[in-house]
Amino acid sequence: MSDKKMWGGRFAERTAASMEAYSESVSFDWRFYREDIRGSQAHARMLAKQGFLSEEEAEVIIKGLDSVREEIESGDFQWKMEMEDVHMNIESRLTEIIGPLGGKLHTARSRNDQVALGFRLHVAARLEEWGRRLKGVVAEFVAQAERHQDTLLPGCTHFQPAQPVSLAHHLLAYCRMFMRDAERVEDCLKRVRISPLGAAALAGTTHPIDPQAVCDDLGFDAVFANSMDAVSDRDFVLEALFCGSLIMAHLSRFCEEIIIWANPNFGFVKLPDAYSTGSSIMPQKKNPDACEIMRGKTGRVYGSLMSLLTVVKGLPMTYNRDLQEDKEPFFDADRTVGMSLEVMAGMLPGLEFVPEKMAVTMRNGFLNATELADYLAAKGIPFREAHHITGAAVAHAEAVGKGLEELSLAELQQFSEAVDEGVFEVLQYDAAVRRRTSPGGTGPQSVTGQIAAVRDWLA
Ligand code: ARG
Repeated sequence: MSDKKMWGGRFAERTAASMEAYSESVSFDWRFYREDIRGSQAHARMLAKQGFLSEEEAEVIIKGLDSVREEIESGDFQWKMEMEDVHMNIESRLTEIIGPLGGKLHTARSRNDQVALGFRLHVAARLEEWGRRLKGVVAEFVAQAERHQDTLLPGCTHFQPAQPVSLAHHLLAYCRMFMRDAERVEDCLKRVRISPLGAAALAGTTHPIDPQAVCDDLGFDAVFANSMDAVSDRDFVLEALFCGSLIMAHLSRFCEEIIIWANPNFGFVKLPDAYSTGSSIMPQKKNPDACEIMRGKTGRVYGSLMSLLTVVKGLPMTYNRDLQEDKEPFFDADRTVGMSLEVMAGMLPGLEFVPEKMAVTMRNGFLNATELADYLAAKGIPFREAHHITGAAVAHAEAVGKGLEELSLAELQQFSEAVDEGVFEVLQYDAAVRRRTSPGGTGPQSVTGQIAAVRDWLA
């Protein structure tokens, strides 16, 4: 006999042990016990308001659920695999504590709308946490940017040295990525904070319930519009996983840069000891493990997104048990995204940038070549020709082992008679940055403005 199953009325044989182990979700969905209990308490208050429960009965149920939560938090609670999931574990314990009245809680409700509500509450809480952590990361990026407004970095395209930029400008680009991520999380929350309770199994219920009361009670933004959608929609998890994937992509891009910059051939950055590791065999090594792990874990979060997209793609309406597979990918991604943001915020202030190393690359990479071409163009030489002349000057400078700015006036004049003394001012690397006054460019006015805008956004 299926002695303990809540749904066991029509069953004559017990569940196979392998089936029980295969189908249970309590080993992972216990994680949102708090949200399950909050949802049930809101449901009980609504049932009382609608006259299904007396005020006293609702009170007993709500207090009973409080004591279940306390048991869970004190570690005394016995999770039972035979009870399948967090919902039935909690309800059966409630009934043990308060007696048959516990059985009234499930009036006008199904596990299908119950699980959707609990999980929405959970995903909402986690997204709010991601939002806070994203702000923490943006704050650390802008703090470093503030310190490095005058640090010159060889900016790249195609990963080839291209033009000098302010290091602050480079770091502020990351501020923009993580600010968009935070805004995306906010926007996603609008669709997560929809209360599905009252959809029941799929079709709604014959009882005169008040879903809006539950929604208001829980501080959600709106009530579902269609009961079939309410129990089968997992867009909210998918969107959250996409937000997490993009956060990881942005983190991983920066990690990649730090890994490259920390290589002594670049030497643009020194890693804080607290976020790097040594080698067991090569004493000289300091490895950028935090960044490598983050880059590696990025794939894992993408995997969670792909996994749930694949679960959803073939599902007929409405609830199908496949949907239980929405939880582990989210829990795993949540842990990864949350920890990655925490580690990034911790590591950023300890990054020690090395301007002298950047200056070497700047000189060897002829990062002032565009300046010379623009200078010649300003003298009336067609830009295509100016480009050609500059190319020849670069080839010469390379052959004699000098930077463009180290050539003599006579040497430069070999390539064009238009060159005069004024060229040396133009060839200064910091001038290249100062003169880029176009909006959103690397010029100091733009960078100061960007820093102020990020600070405003944080406040
Ligand atoms: N553990 C289930 C899940 O995560 C809860 C809902 C079960 N509903 C049902 N009709 N069997 O999806």
